[in-house]
Amino acid sequence: LEPFEKFGQLGDKNSDYKKVLYGDSITKYSTCTHAAHGMIYALDNTKVWDLYESRAAILMQMRFDGVLGFPGGLVDAGENPAAALNREMIEEINIDTSKHYFDDKDHLVSYLHEEKNLVLHFYTKKVNLTEFRNIERRNLEAKEYGIETFGIIRPPLFTMGDNLRGFPAFLSNQFAGNSKEELLLALCATNIMTKDEIDIAVEAMKKHVQ
Ligand code: GTP
Ligand code: MN
Ligand code: MN
Ligand code: MN
Ligand code: MN
Ligand code: MN
Repeated sequence: LEPFEKFGQLGDKNSDYKKVLYGDSITKYSTCTHAAHGMIYALDNTKVWDLYESRAAILMQMRFDGVLGFPGGLVDAGENPAAALNREMIEEINIDTSKHYFDDKDHLVSYLHEEKNLVLHFYTKKVNLTEFRNIERRNLEAKEYGIETFGIIRPPLFTMGDNLRGFPAFLSNQFAGNSKEELLLALCATNIMTKDEIDIAVEAMKKHVQ
């Protein structure tokens, strides 16, 4: 079963993005613009202030347009999505592709936005915490740092006592493309969070953001 079938719709129930099969999408939607983005993550079983489970370090970024997203970008003519993703990873976070390289096996889900003629491909890559920190450090030397990208961030994955601060508050940010749903789906697919935990956090966020 594809992970997107297993977990159904996460986050915005009225999303304009519909899931499409990766294999089909490249030939079937050849007239669309394609983009590829990737989530690099490391499991982290340490506790924050001896209180909250970290669960994982996840690499997201503040984009030039003030919204959050994953590193990645548009697929150029003649490029396949995975190749585009690796190129964008170099441009946006200065990743060392001799150590961390995305391929088709890392693909998680693809979405079509019919009105925008846009197909968005999403990948995940697991590294260990030491590698994750090294990837974070290298980001400052990226070609696009300060231009397309305004810094990497780790989403907090715990919820604090007021049922808002932490993960629900993080989810109240603005997100590029379909990156919020991608984050939620990836958290489920990697077993970092259960679907129930995600639904609770999404509801908590909605209650506070009217
Ligand atoms: P340029 O080189 O300036 O063209 O930017 P780029 O190639 O880096 O493209 P960008 O990352 O902005 O991605 C292109 C489109 O994908 C954007 O217009 C967004 O709609 C969408 N997008 C951006 N970030 C994400 C993301 O994390 N996930 C998804 N699904 N879509 C995203
Ligand atoms: Mn302090
Ligand atoms: Mn880019
Ligand atoms: Mn980009
Ligand atoms: Mn680009
Ligand atoms: Mn660019």
